[in-house]
Amino acid sequence: MKVLVVGSGGREHALAWKLSQEAEVVVAPGNAGIAQDVECVDLAVSDFEGLLNLCRTRAIDLVVVGPEDPLIVGLADLMRAAGIAVYGPGKEGARLEGSKAYSKEVMAAAGIPTARFGAFDQPEPALVFAREMVASGNLPVIKASGNALGKGVVVCNDLDEAEDAIEMMMLDREFGDAGSTVVVEERLLGFEFSLLTICSGQDYYSLPVAQDYKRALDGDRGPNTGGMGTYSPVAAVSADMVRDAEEKVVKPVLDYLRKEGVDYRGTLFSGLMVSQGKSYCLEYNVRFGDPETQTVMRRVNGGLLAALLAAAKGEPIPPVSISDEAAVTVVIASGGYPGTYRKEVPVGIPQDLPSNVKIFHAGTKFQDDSLVSSGGRVLGISATADSLSEARLSAYRVCDKIEFAEMHFRRDIAASSV
Ligand SMILES: Nc1ncnc2c1ncn2[C@@H]1O[C@H](COP(=O)(O)OP(=O)(O)O)[C@@H](O)[C@H]1O
Ligand SMILES: [Mg+2]
Repeated sequence: MKVLVVGSGGREHALAWKLSQEAEVVVAPGNAGIAQDVECVDLAVSDFEGLLNLCRTRAIDLVVVGPEDPLIVGLADLMRAAGIAVYGPGKEGARLEGSKAYSKEVMAAAGIPTARFGAFDQPEPALVFAREMVASGNLPVIKASGNALGKGVVVCNDLDEAEDAIEMMMLDREFGDAGSTVVVEERLLGFEFSLLTICSGQDYYSLPVAQDYKRALDGDRGPNTGGMGTYSPVAAVSADMVRDAEEKVVKPVLDYLRKEGVDYRGTLFSGLMVSQGKSYCLEYNVRFGDPETQTVMRRVNGGLLAALLAAAKGEPIPPVSISDEAAVTVVIASGGYPGTYRKEVPVGIPQDLPSNVKIFHAGTKFQDDSLVSSGGRVLGISATADSLSEARLSAYRVCDKIEFAEMHFRRDIAASSV
């Protein structure tokens, strides 16, 4: 069995590493760390023709698409049309992530619990809607509908902030076309978690929940990032909560899409908020989350290949074998991230790692044979152990041996849960 993983981040490293225990894996384009585990081919995720060619010349049996961008513009459709099994939704399904306005409309049409909202392509009615919301005692959240690289959501504390956000997105076009439509929705208060579900159009199977830490600094301070760390299992999310989310948020959207003629094959990532005991859907993403996937892959014993292949073929999904061990991943980021940061900074990694630690690379490359940084998030230090506290200690012991100018990482990943 030959698998092509498309992408170049920590998520793709974790997927490729796990899949390589069950199959022959090639990654395009990959990164310096992935290249130490499996073969990488230097093709951009946007080079559809190149990727299609690679599938043909290498007789690839399954393509696993990591990031959302190629899915949103139709990579999976192109490959399916060529008869290749692909794990990742087509363009239609990927609109769930590509357009927040569409996604909210689907939630409303399918009866999925979500914050009350309006979608607008003009600033005036958006402002009126936000003013009415504040007048009725609720606070608004303003969201750029398009893909704004995780920066397009402003959770407002008053009307002024909401008005500024609408103007910034719709008039100043801070996020370009991504802000030509905005969603104005009611702010909910509660506890957040995300559910990663493998979907085959007919069937679905949820992976264990991993809690992520979005803010840059300890104590959930500082700006939002792509994610600074994760841990699993999450005691605060019970099996009942997962079942409830599957029943109310996962199943109805898949049913709705199927009725609309969309055969969704890939990951459905549901962003959930539990408010007063009830789960609400904040958003859907159409791919595995990062760094959640790094932690979750550490808990997969086997069966991932069979599950992803079944999903790609539209078949019933065999359960994945999950270990009872705990896993913790701490992200090492470049100084300044998520703002501006230096690249091509030499990265030093200890030669001897304990057997329970795996380092996933998110943004590294080789320069004249030495390892240097190439992104904001650089490494994911991922440890497993019988308990969360041991896994946490193991991960941090290795973090303290990483040498990398201006590097920063959070000290409190999983701290409140051990
Ligand atoms: N209705 C809401 N009420 C409260 N917080 C929200 C709401 N919608 C989004 N948020 C917060 O904003 C974050 C980002 O919003 P989300 O819809 O997940 O967009 P994205 O991940 O694309 O930036 C969420 O993780 C959550 O913390
Ligand atoms: Mg989100």
